[in-house]
Amino acid sequence: MKFFVDSAEAAEIREIAELGLADGVTTNPSLIAKSGRPYFDLLREICTIVDGPVSAEVVATAAPAMLEEGLKLSALHPNIVVKCPMTIEGLKATRALADRGIRVNVTLIFSPLQALAAVKCGASFLSPFVGRLDDIGHDGLLLIDQIVRIMDNYDYPAEVLVASIRSPLHLLHAAEAGAHIATLPPAVIKQILQHPLTDAGLEKFLADWHQTKQKI
Ligand code: G3P
Repeated sequence: MKFFVDSAEAAEIREIAELGLADGVTTNPSLIAKSGRPYFDLLREICTIVDGPVSAEVVATAAPAMLEEGLKLSALHPNIVVKCPMTIEGLKATRALADRGIRVNVTLIFSPLQALAAVKCGASFLSPFVGRLDDIGHDGLLLIDQIVRIMDNYDYPAEVLVASIRSPLHLLHAAEAGAHIATLPPAVIKQILQHPLTDAGLEKFLADWHQTKQKI
């Protein structure tokens, strides 16, 4: 399973990359706005930090303008993946970009049939938003199971990139379901590395070792 960092904060991304846990990065307009950084400069910097797919979202809503923006974004660096929303115009832009050999991450997917339509329109990555479905009382994890099964049934090439992950349990389910990628907030990545029994066990080991008065 690949871990992507779901962030537009260069320092956060670098911290995860230095752990060896950053196989890629996903950004979105809200994360970019939160960073306060010029979009293209930030994308160029992120591409120097992580040697993997970096998703950059278009903000136009009509296909021709989405295509124009997508061409500009993909020209920034070979690792840039253009993010298009799961709308009719977004699918038209996905097809046009894919026909030009540009990888597209179709985002804001909330149903299995949206994912099916996106892969048929040439998407390289599919981003179902688990957390936002859970937020309204729907079963976000069921969506992951359904999309992975559909991809497997037809051997579609697109990678299922589970997004809107709120907890380690979302990641665990995504991994058990066989999703290719999880895009993770840095805080969730740090959460999965820690366990109270690890801390307690190490403390006991070191206390016992210090009794030996030895050094390595
Ligand atoms: O970046 C795409 C997705 O991960 C956003 O998640 O937490 O805003 O629902 P969230």
